[in-house]
Amino acid sequence: MRVDGAVRRGEVAVDLGLQGHKALVGGASRGLGRAAAEALAAAGCDLLLWARDEAALADVARTVSKRHGVRAEIVTADAYDPATPQRLHEAATSTLGDVDVLVLNSGGPPRCGALETDRESWEASFRLLCTGPVELATRLIPGMQRRGWGRVVAILSSGVRQPIPGLVYSNACRSALVAWLKTAAAELASSGVTLNGVLPGRLATDRVAELDEAMARELGVDVAEVRRRSTTDIPAGRYGDPAELGSVVAFLCSAAASYVTGALVPVDGGMIKGVA
Ligand SMILES: NC(=O)c1ccc[n+]([C@@H]2O[C@H](COP(=O)([O-])OP(=O)(O)OC[C@H]3O[C@@H](n4cnc5c(N)ncnc54)[C@H](OP(=O)(O)O)[C@@H]3O)[C@@H](O)[C@H]2O)c1
Repeated sequence: MRVDGAVRRGEVAVDLGLQGHKALVGGASRGLGRAAAEALAAAGCDLLLWARDEAALADVARTVSKRHGVRAEIVTADAYDPATPQRLHEAATSTLGDVDVLVLNSGGPPRCGALETDRESWEASFRLLCTGPVELATRLIPGMQRRGWGRVVAILSSGVRQPIPGLVYSNACRSALVAWLKTAAAELASSGVTLNGVLPGRLATDRVAELDEAMARELGVDVAEVRRRSTTDIPAGRYGDPAELGSVVAFLCSAAASYVTGALVPVDGGMIKGVA
């Protein structure tokens, strides 16, 4: 299956129904956010991309607009900054007008064990992973409600189903965002606005490479050994490609996913072992 303006299964092309929709995508300069942006551009969405690195964002914008013939604008912002939701709302209004599709994503918090936390890092991580995304969504959803159509997809983590050792801020703060997302999904279910989350396991991005390097230093082994051990836990037998998450995000934003809301979709090669 590939996403190419449509999802193709064999010879049958399925139109995602996203042509001309406007999408705001976070953490879009690389990794999973970039992959989500590329899949939405392939489906015909105009984009506003945000992250901190202006040159990297500009490169993504040039690439996707050339490849897919969509409009792609950029805005720099730091997810730790409390002024960011308002800044993004204003930038989206002035560049895109209405936002139909919102992808909530930015960077990950620092590694930390459950008994090593401190208040400052809790507050920063909660802003990054919960209050920042909630404030941004809260600003954009009313417009979606008025138009009777909208899609919000949060890039979360397998850690909300199966907490990841050494990532307590990620496990806890993303779980709070899930609780908000499920509450909002139920409140909005009759309005044409859906809210869903994707749960990446281990997809090959800079973030995962950095975590593997940190783990290698901690264990005193080389990074190839860390990757080998991690891969043993993944039934698919490999790390995922970011594009394999981008296509799931695009599907959740599609017309075909109109009756899917409040869902948490693992994109993990079978890594989460539990049934719920
Ligand atoms: N990859 C995986 O398998 C996996 C698994 C579980 C969870 N996740 C989570 O999914 C999210 C995306 O992961 P990824 O693997 O794509 O990470 P990544 O490769 O490190 O990319 C992170 C993106 O977020 C942006 N970003 C980082 N810090 C930011 C900040 N303070 N403000 C604004 N933008 C910021 C980065 O761009 P700039 O540096 O330009 O700002 C980049 O575009 C993260 O929250 C990560 O923890 C990923």
